[in-house]
Amino acid sequence: MTTITQAPYLMTDLGQSTLYTMRNKNGMQVSATDFGGHLVSILAPDRDGKLADVILGYGDYAGYKVNKYYLGAAVGRCANRIGKGRFTLNGKEYQLALNDNGVNHLHGGTVGFDQKLWACKVISCEEGQALRLRLVSPDGEEHYPGALSVTMTYTLTDQNELVLHYEAASDADTVCNLTNHAYFNLAGHNSGTILGQRLKIYADHFTEADAESIPTGRVLPVEGTPMDFRDYHRVGERIDADYLPLNYGGGYDHNWVLNSPAGELGPCAEMWDEASGRHMTCLTTLPGVQFYSGNFIDGTQLGKEGCYYEKRGGLCLETQFAPDSVNHPEWPNPILRAGELYDHTTIYRFDVK
Ligand code: BGC
Repeated sequence: MTTITQAPYLMTDLGQSTLYTMRNKNGMQVSATDFGGHLVSILAPDRDGKLADVILGYGDYAGYKVNKYYLGAAVGRCANRIGKGRFTLNGKEYQLALNDNGVNHLHGGTVGFDQKLWACKVISCEEGQALRLRLVSPDGEEHYPGALSVTMTYTLTDQNELVLHYEAASDADTVCNLTNHAYFNLAGHNSGTILGQRLKIYADHFTEADAESIPTGRVLPVEGTPMDFRDYHRVGERIDADYLPLNYGGGYDHNWVLNSPAGELGPCAEMWDEASGRHMTCLTTLPGVQFYSGNFIDGTQLGKEGCYYEKRGGLCLETQFAPDSVNHPEWPNPILRAGELYDHTTIYRFDVK
């Protein structure tokens, strides 16, 4: 059974934040904070039972506030990019902030959900205790239509699963695409790059993107390309291949179209560090995943425990609707109609192999 303890965490511009630590019967631990719904640490055992913190995090409030890399962040209202920050809904055009190099909209805008102080409550559930985080994003916030009420429930199970359950509803038609931006490094958060760790992605296709990481509209087979992760490959095996999508992304930073039917909880990806034995399985109800290999991490930002993360020091598996899918009616897209319930789940399960 999981129990949760709480302690004062960082002092933020919005007030005192709290750190919630969940512990299950196996000694696995997950810490999260109400500031931005960030996952702050995940302590997972290796094949000898030795715990290591397998996600990257910041060392102080300054890091979380600048939030350049979105380490562990809850991302919304719309994760990933919207081309030129523009979309049309019910005949009305919306212009969002161009916070991605002044050209596109990224991760919900200038003040995304990662910068909000969420209302948190420890609740009782089948697993013992879980953390419930709530937020109301007012109508017009970051220029999105509709007041959106979001509930995220973070649960640690005795099967060493971290279950992230997202529910949202709006009083007007809007866009809703929620994800978590944890960077995983199964050898430990400060152990160097993830290039030697192995990855599998349950996808036959990916969405082609242009030099600004905006989808071209073409959905390409992974077959015969460095994007093929249907069997395990080391992340670094083909990352520097002379292949246009990798050249554009500076490595992996793309959306894979998952094979399992959208809306059903299905396999998304597996990550494996052979040396420690740590293995993680990601499952989701969402139709896609952004596998981002931390290409923009540049060693300049102070992380946890006084460390500076290097380029490709962690990787993200951001379950999501495809980038710019609000502008692609032919794809599963993140339009949430008034009165409908957004209800999605992503699970990160840890074991050894
Ligand atoms: C994007 C990257 C971006 C990063 C920001 C990822 O989700 O795909 O392009 O640089 O977030 O930390």
